[in-house]
Amino acid sequence: MKVEIILIICINAFFIGVETQIAQETTANPEQLSTGADSSQTYFIGTDSIGGEGAAGVEQQLSAVKTPATGTGGSGGTFNVKDFGAKGDGKTDDCKAIQAAWQTACKCTGSPKIVISSGTYLTGPVQFFGPCKATTITVQVEGTLKASTNLAKYGSHDWIQFGWVNGLILTGGGTFDGQGAVSWPYNKCPANKKCNVLPTNLKFNAMTGTTVKDIKSVNSKFFHYGLINVQKFNASGLHITAPGDSPNTDGMHIERSSDVTITNSVIRTGDDCISVGHGNSHVTIKGITCGPGHGISVGSLGRYQNEGDVNGLIVQNCTLTGTQNGVRVKTWENSPTPSKAINMTFEDIIMNNVGNPIIIDQTYCPYVSCTSTAPSKVKLQDISFKKIRGTSSTPVAVMLECSKNLPCQNVVLQDISLSHPSGAKSTCQNVQAKIVGTVVPTPCKG
Ligand SMILES: *[C@@H]1O[C@H](CO)[C@@H](O)[C@H](O)[C@H]1NC(C)=O
Ligand SMILES: *[C@@H]1O[C@H](CO)[C@@H](O)[C@H](O)[C@H]1NC(C)=O
Ligand SMILES: *[C@@H]1O[C@H](CO)[C@@H](O)[C@H](O)[C@H]1NC(C)=O
Repeated sequence: MKVEIILIICINAFFIGVETQIAQETTANPEQLSTGADSSQTYFIGTDSIGGEGAAGVEQQLSAVKTPATGTGGSGGTFNVKDFGAKGDGKTDDCKAIQAAWQTACKCTGSPKIVISSGTYLTGPVQFFGPCKATTITVQVEGTLKASTNLAKYGSHDWIQFGWVNGLILTGGGTFDGQGAVSWPYNKCPANKKCNVLPTNLKFNAMTGTTVKDIKSVNSKFFHYGLINVQKFNASGLHITAPGDSPNTDGMHIERSSDVTITNSVIRTGDDCISVGHGNSHVTIKGITCGPGHGISVGSLGRYQNEGDVNGLIVQNCTLTGTQNGVRVKTWENSPTPSKAINMTFEDIIMNNVGNPIIIDQTYCPYVSCTSTAPSKVKLQDISFKKIRGTSSTPVAVMLECSKNLPCQNVVLQDISLSHPSGAKSTCQNVQAKIVGTVVPTPCKG
């Protein structure tokens, strides 16, 4: 008889403040101490807004306990969480059953599948952690997962956490409901640099070869999707919604990742539609409908020490409606270390009543006052805006504000047509954009 240790990882920790630099809290995490695991990842978040609304840059540390698969399972197989005791009645906490189904599937070789069939499953944080023995492992969500509204259950954890799994397929048309409305009043991040960061709905960490298809995410407490350190991640058919005034409910934040493709999805939230943070390469965003929200952003970059570069971004065939910004590159002033963001193309984009449809902002500082106004050390180069048309809700439709020390290089504006009722304008600083085709509003000279 083999002895199998089942780690109970349904969490019931105290809600301790997650602030910037929370190393002490990580070591104080009782769970982590009891398992001796020490996998932690620093997750840098720059949240934002423009136009004096006040916002924040938040750094969160993801501390995650790895749960190695113990024992051996068979090959393949389908595991319904209801067979592991899940009720799906919307009242019972189904965390342990979901977790047990995952543990079992994770031990199988081949292509196991866990099924969360129709029903409403209430749960606090769930950890779908590997490494698993499977080649691919499918999580088929047909029902609705509802996040517990009791913040004491989360500690510094996110809600649905995937980590150290290769070949994950998350699909099924189901819904992840973060029930965020109850906790939004506790989110002080839009006003305060030191703030408790609430749980992200779906976090993916250190994974290779992930597919997410036909999944809904509703009313996250904080971000809807957070990707850190993932390679080969494809998502399509996402449906992401939260009210336009909900704080920090970014659709997706991507960081330190490569070969990420997000296609044919609808994202309506209170913050960035998609934000591409530092250390990313080869990111493709296509066929996305955004709004309300803050638009599609690169950044914010240059806030922290030793950030990685951004290289290779394509944003194509997107429609933005009523968003605060359109396509934006934002870098902090006074960045501690140099970095760069290069090779980015924004193409075939329709703007409907969008504020700042095209914007590069290298003096980003969402707080009332920043400690310094030293120019940004993030170098921006090889950026094309092509075939962008529609209406601006602000008179300045094209704003290119580059760093005094590092003027932007090789910025191309091609076939742009943006209007505003009182006449659209361009502003620019420290940049000489190359003009191709017809560009309206009239380009300015930096
Ligand atoms: C993601 O999509 C690309 C292009 O369609 C494809 O080559 C790649 O294999 C896909 N990756 C995964 C993990 O499905
Ligand atoms: C553009 O995106 C829409 C979804 O917004 C999609 O239906 C359409 O097929 C895409 N077109 C191309 C040419 O990719
Ligand atoms: C520029 O980005 C595209 C898209 O990610 C990529 O295919 C290409 O290799 C990049 N070019 C360079 C010179 O890195």
